[in-house]
Amino acid sequence: MSLLQVKDKTFAVSIPEAKLQEEVRRVAAEINRDLAGEEPLFLPVLNGAFMFAADLLREVTLPCEVSFIKLASYQGTQTTGTIREVIGLAKDITGRHVVIVEDIIDSGLTMAHMIETLEKHNPASIRVCALLVKPDALKVKVPIDYCCMEIPNDFIVGYGLDYDGFGRNTRDIYTLVEN
Ligand code: IMP
Ligand code: MG
Repeated sequence: MSLLQVKDKTFAVSIPEAKLQEEVRRVAAEINRDLAGEEPLFLPVLNGAFMFAADLLREVTLPCEVSFIKLASYQGTQTTGTIREVIGLAKDITGRHVVIVEDIIDSGLTMAHMIETLEKHNPASIRVCALLVKPDALKVKVPIDYCCMEIPNDFIVGYGLDYDGFGRNTRDIYTLVEN
């Protein structure tokens, strides 16, 4: 078993590179089919989606644009806790077919907030493309149009995903080893 040490935690390979690439190609083909004739605007969410987006977009054959967005989290004064703000929405998305590219959907709160924010700018459509989804962790209903893989409710790193900022730079995905 291939292990990875990230700071104080040990992880083991759970999704090898070849499997990831196979699923990324499948999802790209679905996007190419569904958005044929359109000029979509892809919005990968930094930091986690950078590697997924790079691989996905190399398989997208449509005429398209790419603009990265980021979420700023801060502790709100309300009891709602963490409030996230979408920053860097540099492109005018009005009338555009938007595809949000996200690394992982866990509770779904981030994505729900993102969709709500983007909808205010009147895009023609919004699609969600996630590398990974944890179905058992979902707290809110999120429309997920494209998903490479569903995974159990475990903590993972690699292929863009981090533990405390580290562990993003691997080709495979690793799951935390309980010890
Ligand atoms: P949500 O709002 O709970 O859906 O959180 C989604 C965000 O949490 C993702 O964009 C990731 O940045 C982060 N996240 C959720 N699960 C994991 C994980 O297993 N490893 C690393 N980051 C994660
Ligand atoms: Mg993320």
